[in-house]
Amino acid sequence: VLADPEAVVVTSGYVQALALLVRTAADTVAMEDPGLPFHREVVRRNGGRVVALPTDGLGARTDLLGRRVRADAVVVTPAHQYPAGVTLHPARRQALTAWARRTGGLVVEDDYDGEFRYDRQPVGALQGTAPDHVVYVGTAAKTVGPALRLGWMVLPPRLVGPVAEAKLHSDYHTGVIEQLALAELIASHGYDRHVRAARLRYRRRRDLLVSRLTGRHAPSGVAAGLHALVRLPPDGPDEAGILARAAGAGLAVDALGPHWHTPGDHPQGLIVGYGTPGEGAYPAALEALVRVLG
Ligand SMILES: Cc1ncc(COP(=O)(O)O)c(C=O)c1O
Repeated sequence: VLADPEAVVVTSGYVQALALLVRTAADTVAMEDPGLPFHREVVRRNGGRVVALPTDGLGARTDLLGRRVRADAVVVTPAHQYPAGVTLHPARRQALTAWARRTGGLVVEDDYDGEFRYDRQPVGALQGTAPDHVVYVGTAAKTVGPALRLGWMVLPPRLVGPVAEAKLHSDYHTGVIEQLALAELIASHGYDRHVRAARLRYRRRRDLLVSRLTGRHAPSGVAAGLHALVRLPPDGPDEAGILARAAGAGLAVDALGPHWHTPGDHPQGLIVGYGTPGEGAYPAALEALVRVLG
């Protein structure tokens, strides 16, 4: 990330960054399909119109921008697409920044779990390749916890003033005590130590997940992050059936269904977040999931 301190605005998590950007810099926002329904709602409630940006095995279909998909801003999760877990292909990254340069469109890079990669070299932030067009947004939600409500965005120079002003009139500022505590954690290297240790723990959980869910339920999107996507075979129980069975076993997992922009005949799946259970509870929770899936 190319980050001049003047270009950084601290926010109450990713969600406030998204809200402020829609209010100041975007009318029509292309968002990944599937993607988090909550974030679509945040865009709408802040005055934005949402259009679907399809995804495939290479990530978001940025090659469609300016053709089938028309928008003045694009929100992407390039390092680890939510929820499919795909890393945006270099050609798609290139298509995205080329579109932004050509049209003046804004790219919002949601790097929500960029700290947790397991199998491959870190992917450089998109922002570093086009800092005048890409807003990088980071969050402490996955590294420290979503309760903290701390995020940060690195803005193109033209947006610093308008976004800082929108932030001021939204909530004055994000809690300073929390910011100082995080700053101290970073300066003391405690944050780095914590992230390294957490990465190791989550990788072990990921490895166990991959070793226990095999065959038709083999998870995808597992190279990074804290969740995996498990596709449900068309001849087995559907999402609603599996969710009910999971709830009966004391498990909370998400269905893929609500993540599509429009209801319809989509592939069925489960989003399994493996970061949440306590360390001692995880193996039993995973065995319960294996039984639920049958
Ligand atoms: C796709 C995605 N982006 C961003 C976030 C982080 O959001 P926040 O910082 O508002 O907690 C999450 C959290 O779960 C997420 O799933």
